[in-house]
Amino acid sequence: MTADLLVLGIESSCDDTAAAVVAWRGGTTRVLSNVTLAQFDRHAAFGGVVPEIAARAHVERLDGVIAQAMLEADMRYDRLDAVAATAGPGLIGGVIVGLTAAKAVAIAHEKRLVPVNHLEAHALSVRLTEAVEFPYLLLLISGGHTQLIEVAGVGRYRRLGTTIDDAAGEAFDKSAKLLGLGQPGGPMIERAATGGHPARYDFPKPLADREGCDFSLSGMKTALRLAAENVVNPTGQDIADLAASFQAAIAAHLADRTAKAMDLMQGVSTLVVAGGVAANCAIKEKLKGLSAARSWRLVYPPPKYCTDNGAMIAWAGIERLRAGLVPSPADALAFAPRARWPLAEPIAGRAHGGGKKGPKA
Ligand code: KG4
Ligand code: ZN
Repeated sequence: MTADLLVLGIESSCDDTAAAVVAWRGGTTRVLSNVTLAQFDRHAAFGGVVPEIAARAHVERLDGVIAQAMLEADMRYDRLDAVAATAGPGLIGGVIVGLTAAKAVAIAHEKRLVPVNHLEAHALSVRLTEAVEFPYLLLLISGGHTQLIEVAGVGRYRRLGTTIDDAAGEAFDKSAKLLGLGQPGGPMIERAATGGHPARYDFPKPLADREGCDFSLSGMKTALRLAAENVVNPTGQDIADLAASFQAAIAAHLADRTAKAMDLMQGVSTLVVAGGVAANCAIKEKLKGLSAARSWRLVYPPPKYCTDNGAMIAWAGIERLRAGLVPSPADALAFAPRARWPLAEPIAGRAHGGGKKGPKA
C-alpha cells in the first residue's frame, strides 16, 4: 500500500496563477486548499492573453498564491511529501516562473519535485473527485486545447484527434470579440444566445467527409463574421440568433468528432469532458444525448477542477508518485520547461495543433 501523500501543486502555464495542497490518505483524496488568481484585468484591454504580461503577473503573484494555499491548508513545508508543477505545455514565460518556484521550494525544503504535463493533469483531474477507472475517453475543450484522448492509465495516452486550427475556447473568445461581447468569450456568447434561434443561420460542418477525429473550428468564426456582416443594424434578437446558431454549430461539431472517437474505442464506455468550454450548457446537452444513445457513462469534473487550477496539478503529481512514474530527484531538478509537450502521439502519425498552448485569442 502506498504511503499517504501530501502534495503542493503549482499552475502557471496560461493566465491563471494557481496553487493547491492535496492530500491522499488511505485511498481518500482531500483538496485542502485550491487558490486561483485569474488575470482578466491584466489582459482585458488587449482582447486576449499577452504572454509577456502573463509571465510578469505570475512573477508578481505566485509567491502570494502559494503562501495563501499553504495557509488555507494549514500546512507547513516540512510536512509536504512533494511539490508538483506544470512543466509544459504552455506559454513559456509562465511555465518557467512556476517550475522555477517549485524547484526553489523543493531544494529549500528537501522535497521531491514532480514536473507535470498540463494536459495529463486535465486528463486525470476527474479522478480527483470521482471513482473513474481506466480506460476512458477524454474530450478536452479549453482555451488552448481541443483534443480527444484515450486515457488507458497514468502515463498511457493515445491521441485520437486534435484541432487543426483554433481551439474551441479560442473560437468562442474570438467570436465574442467579433460580436462586440466581452471576455472571456464563452460565457458571454452563452449568455447572449439565451432566447436565440439556433437554426436561424447556417454554419459549416467542418471535416465532415474526412476520416479521423480531428477538429476544425476557425471556419465557424468566419461563418459568424459573414452572417453578422449581412445583418444591417442588428437587434438584440439578431445577436441572440447569431450567438445561438454559432454555439449550436460548435456543439454539433464537437459531438460529431466525439461520436467518431467512440466508434474507434474498444472496451471503453466512459466519456470524460474537461476544460473551460465544458461549462457550456448547449455542449453539455449535446454530449448528454450522444452518451445516452450509446449507453456510455458521461462524467464532468466539477467546474473548479475543469478549468486551470492547482489541485489538478497536485493530483497528477500524486497519481505519478503512486504509479512510481517520477524522474529521479536530480533529473526532476534539471527538467527544462517546455512550450510544446504533446501528451500522446496521434494515432495516424499526423501532427498538427496538439501539444502547443498559445494565447487564447
Ligand atoms: O480551461 P480554461 O479555463 O483555460 C485554458 O486552459 O484555456 O478554458 C478557458 C476557455 C476560454 O476560452 C473561455 O471562453 C471558455 O473556456 N469558456 C467557455 C465557457 N466558459 C468558459 N466556453 C463556452 N461556454 C462557456 N460557458
Ligand atoms: Zn488548461
